[in-house]
Amino acid sequence: MKVVKIKHLLSESTKTNFNYVVKGWVKTFRANRFIALNDGSSIENLQCVVDYESLNESELKLITTGTALHLEGPLVESQGSGQKVELKVNKLDIIGDCNPEKYPIQPKKHSLEYLREKAHLRIRTTTFAAVMRIRSSLSFYIHKFFQEKGFYYINTPIITGSDAEGAGEMFRVSTLDHKNPPIDENGNLDFKKDFFGKETNLTVSGQLEAEAYALGLGEVYTFGPTFRAENSNTKRHLAEFWMIEPEMAFYDLNDNMDLAEKFITQVLSEVLSNCVSDLEFLNDRQKKEDLSKPLSERNQMNLLDKIKFVVENNFIRITYNEAYRILKDSKPNKKKKFKFLINQWGTDLQSEHERYLVEKHFKRPVIIFNYPINIKAFYMRRNDDGKTVRAMDILFPGIGEIVGGSQREERLDILEKRMIEMQINSEELWWYLDLRRYGSVPHSGFGLGFERLVQFVTGMNNIRDVIPFPRTPQNASF
Ligand code: 4AD
Ligand code: MG
Repeated sequence: MKVVKIKHLLSESTKTNFNYVVKGWVKTFRANRFIALNDGSSIENLQCVVDYESLNESELKLITTGTALHLEGPLVESQGSGQKVELKVNKLDIIGDCNPEKYPIQPKKHSLEYLREKAHLRIRTTTFAAVMRIRSSLSFYIHKFFQEKGFYYINTPIITGSDAEGAGEMFRVSTLDHKNPPIDENGNLDFKKDFFGKETNLTVSGQLEAEAYALGLGEVYTFGPTFRAENSNTKRHLAEFWMIEPEMAFYDLNDNMDLAEKFITQVLSEVLSNCVSDLEFLNDRQKKEDLSKPLSERNQMNLLDKIKFVVENNFIRITYNEAYRILKDSKPNKKKKFKFLINQWGTDLQSEHERYLVEKHFKRPVIIFNYPINIKAFYMRRNDDGKTVRAMDILFPGIGEIVGGSQREERLDILEKRMIEMQINSEELWWYLDLRRYGSVPHSGFGLGFERLVQFVTGMNNIRDVIPFPRTPQNASF
């Protein structure tokens, strides 16, 4: 008989009084009779009722939380109150036993910190299974959004010779013997002897290569892993994270902002309609968690309302100038409550400022655009004022920056000048400059941090809890 997913068995349309086979893991076993079985397909467990008589003593002992089972029998209307249907077990096979003394995932509340140390097993908990199912759905709806719009999915390289953000936060890729490295005539590491014959790193962004493809395919997007060696141990930073980077020929900054807003709201509304039980579970989870926090730290809106609010309301769009003025005149700035005070035009905004704008001032997602040239990357298009560039960041409640993007500098002379000013290696990026030599057009794009989106949707406070195996400073286990 074919194995049926629990999700399917619990759906209204499934016929009762037929025999089914299910395979999954025991969540709980009570009264030597009721097994709550989960196979990952649904947040709900299937109640499976075993006939005590039919089991021998040693089998009974082996049915504990975590045991993997094969169960067979008719699906019947449940006698009990907790569920509509249950499986009346005629046949039970133990596929894999699970030592109850040692199994780290017991049917009780475990802290997220504890579970991070058991990242290989935490997917067996209801919370992580819900988060990871939503993560999977989100990535599906992201592809769906772009595919339906006619964007092409492209895979940009992970190993690269160029620093796309010019921020120097890269992980080196090398096969050189680090105990006995080759040295050149100037006493430097001789990268000519390395695998690629030059210095290479893990990419921080697929943007530059995506630009090349947009200038041929029109509208493209990447969705891949990116790596940053920034030593920031925060709840929003990973050393390895996934980024979605659309890049579009003939788009200016406004078109770019329109697309980004439409993209985020559409993906969120798909998840709202399609991940109902997982979202409801996480909504309740957050409510309970809030009760244990002081009033000032509690979420002002529950999770579902917050997502709906973002879907239903336009994002606010303001220039850096406007944001600067609001922040400069804000209470926390005047009362010196900000850690970084705002008193000079041109300073970068910190997460405390971003969150003030989103959570206190506008109470909405905010897009800030036209940033000072000196705090942004070399590839952004210079405005006529000479002081600002056509950058845009999207800021979200509870998250801060979720998207960073810009219109790109398509004018060769201005780009070359900027690269010299910022000491960007133009020899390495000769091909990027070529794009401005041969049929250059205005174009734009942005990058959305996938884990930050998952955080927003699931309400998980720490980014380490929305990726299966997080990589952070001093941590690359599993
Ligand atoms: O603002 P960033 O650095 O922009 C770029 O990389 C551009 N090349 C994107 C583009 O225009 N194609 O990063 C984009 C987003 C951020 O807004 C944030 O959501 C996320 O990537 N991000 C991180 N997420 C997790 N951990 C980190 N260390 C992150 N750094 C950036
Ligand atoms: Mg950014």
